[in-house]
Amino acid sequence: MSKAKTFFQCQACGYMSPKWLGKCPDCGAWNSFAEEKKEISSRYSSVVAHIGKSEPKPLSSVKHETGKRIITGINELDRVLGGGIVSGSVILIGGDPGIGKSTLLIQALSRISKKHGIVLYVSGEESPEQIKIRADRLSINSDNIILHAETSLESILHSAVNLRPKVMVIDSIQTIYTEEIMSAPGSVSQVRECAAKLMLFAKKSDLPVFIVGHVTKEGAIAGPRVLEHIVDTVLYFEGDSGHSYRILRAVKNRFGSVNEIGIFEMSDSGLLEVENPSELFLLERPVNASGSTVVATTEGTRTLMVEIQSLVTQTTFGMPRRTTIGVDFNRVNLLIAVLEKKVGMHLGGMDVFVNVVGGLKIIEPSVDLGIITTIASSFKNIPVNPGLFVFGEVGLSGEIRAVAQAENRLKEASKIGFKTAVIPYGNYQKIRGDFGLQISGVKNVQECIEIIFS
Ligand code: TYD
Ligand code: MG
Repeated sequence: MSKAKTFFQCQACGYMSPKWLGKCPDCGAWNSFAEEKKEISSRYSSVVAHIGKSEPKPLSSVKHETGKRIITGINELDRVLGGGIVSGSVILIGGDPGIGKSTLLIQALSRISKKHGIVLYVSGEESPEQIKIRADRLSINSDNIILHAETSLESILHSAVNLRPKVMVIDSIQTIYTEEIMSAPGSVSQVRECAAKLMLFAKKSDLPVFIVGHVTKEGAIAGPRVLEHIVDTVLYFEGDSGHSYRILRAVKNRFGSVNEIGIFEMSDSGLLEVENPSELFLLERPVNASGSTVVATTEGTRTLMVEIQSLVTQTTFGMPRRTTIGVDFNRVNLLIAVLEKKVGMHLGGMDVFVNVVGGLKIIEPSVDLGIITTIASSFKNIPVNPGLFVFGEVGLSGEIRAVAQAENRLKEASKIGFKTAVIPYGNYQKIRGDFGLQISGVKNVQECIEIIFS
């Protein structure tokens, strides 16, 4: 016997209430409640139940199985995952529609199937014919890639048990439903329940599962935040429609670092790995223009050379405008104040615009010195030497602080042909060798401006 029960649930955070509410008391979202039905079933979850039980055991008796990662062969993806796919892990990939999630996954599956055998691609959004059109475009064809257009979780798990694939992809979690809950696919309780079941299944059967998640207008993966807590790894696939490159970023990873990014370029024949992102980001750098500086920034284990641009113009209205794209707004305001007070640059009557070229977002403090230099360059209308780059954190009294991974930054810059570096004195003292660069160590902002613009 089972009895149906209805309740109302916030579609943003998963808060439950017996009555409809206009505003969620938990997350504060307005008009986010929807009616959900939950069937309280006495039937024990069938498929998952007989995959095997686990027993409590001492830590010392647990084997460390490092060799159990599946290498996809797409380096950018492997690195973001922390060195390949851990068996039994559940990986959520979020991103705007049309960004290339399905493309990335079918390309990864194709590589995996060549080395490891059968893989399963479950699509609740596209028919096998539509998937075939994409595969043809990517020149992918294989007997080992099994397509399954299905939305019932129970049937999906059933075919996974029968086929024993090496990797399974669920495209997307919002289209899947479990028969145990009456709510519509895509609702909070369905998404959460399906993800939890997939997680249990993945762990018990040692099968890695990729889950595609849609992103809402606000940029969060649709469905409750709990989805991010359930899974092992959360990746975001970003990029804007105006540019052809895409960035894969780990925001949570139980098996690796979250600082890693992977860079791809969307071409006519699918996603290509970008091995030298610095060259890509510096490709269209203006020659001898003021307000452009290159900084060496790090993302995880890799160094990127990125151009920071600025434009400083006379304010036409009373209040000066400050606009930033890709760097923190408050940070830029703080650095403008440092320039004003410590270097005597009168920016109070000036509009200041700062932009990171290529749509990157930099949160690392080493970009400070780049922002200082680019604003000073535009203010003075003097171009920065194109072979020069900077990095360093700037403090409130104008002092320049050392940053991590100085040698990696110098190496990367030297590799792509930079000649001169202006870096924190604290780093300058410690580096071994000059990496073929002419390096100046600076202690404060005044010194930096003097060296660059004299
Ligand atoms: P898709 O992987 O379907 O995106 P998602 O699953 O994230 O919604 O990618 C669709 C977009 O990518 C579409 O706008 C077309 C473009 N694309 C290419 O430019 N080249 C290609 O080879 C492929 C397969 C897609
Ligand atoms: Mg898709």
